[in-house]
Amino acid sequence: MSENLIDQIDTDKLPLHIAIIMDGNGRWAKKKSLPRVVGHEYGVKSVRVVAETAAKLGVKYLTLYTFSTENWNRPAFEVKAIMTLLVRTIRSEIKTLQKNNIRLKAIGDIDNLPPDAKKELLSAIELTKNNDSMDLILALNYSARWDIVHATKKIAEMVKNNEISINDINESIISKSLTSGEFPEPELLIRTSGELRISNFMLWELAYGEFYFTDIYWPEFDKNAFYKAILDYQKRERRFGKTSEQVH
Ligand code: IPE
Ligand code: IPE
Ligand code: MG
Repeated sequence: MSENLIDQIDTDKLPLHIAIIMDGNGRWAKKKSLPRVVGHEYGVKSVRVVAETAAKLGVKYLTLYTFSTENWNRPAFEVKAIMTLLVRTIRSEIKTLQKNNIRLKAIGDIDNLPPDAKKELLSAIELTKNNDSMDLILALNYSARWDIVHATKKIAEMVKNNEISINDINESIISKSLTSGEFPEPELLIRTSGELRISNFMLWELAYGEFYFTDIYWPEFDKNAFYKAILDYQKRERRFGKTSEQVH
């Protein structure tokens, strides 16, 4: 089955950048009468599988929505468990990243992560900085609106310092000022767990992104589910406002 699906993928037409809203850990755990936190633990396994699969396939950028700014509003014990899991996972997965030649990166309000999480993250980013098969970008303490506000402040600062004038402000400057500024925009967004919303994720960057939704809960999202999303994407016609005839 896995061989079949992978054989159908046109590797010349892979999305350069795939972004994923990894949702459904809690409901997966509930379905199994387990605590929500166990769902997050099993979610890590899917992260490993999907990151390895994407890198092997030739995807160049994979962004994973890992913790949103709004997620701080969850019960304190769940937030604490997620942060502990984050530190532990980054530490234990360095070898997976090195083995697969994956460079770790992050977007979001990284400075305001708990100090131990920030330290572990920055150390892993440093250790993997020369890897070049794929960038694995974790969206941490991330909200797209926060990112846009943060970028706006950076641009205002540039105007104030006479580095640019107001008339120089354009889409490219805004894109580059986001914490995702060094990466191309994702062509494909996947959201698991059946929710049909964007939840404050990459609002600017996904202006023309293709959306793929699946009912599968994140801990059950595997290689085949990932291949299916890519195959679905490859069947679409991206028109960017033009007519079908124009893009053919
Ligand atoms: C996604 O799973 C992980 C995070 C948001 C950290 P959820 O924890 O949102 O799982 P559900 O949506 O409650 O099932
Ligand atoms: C989005 O999932 C955030 C992450 C996957 C990290 P949520 O579960 O927090 O989103 P909502 O609250 O259902 O929109
Ligand atoms: Mg959720």
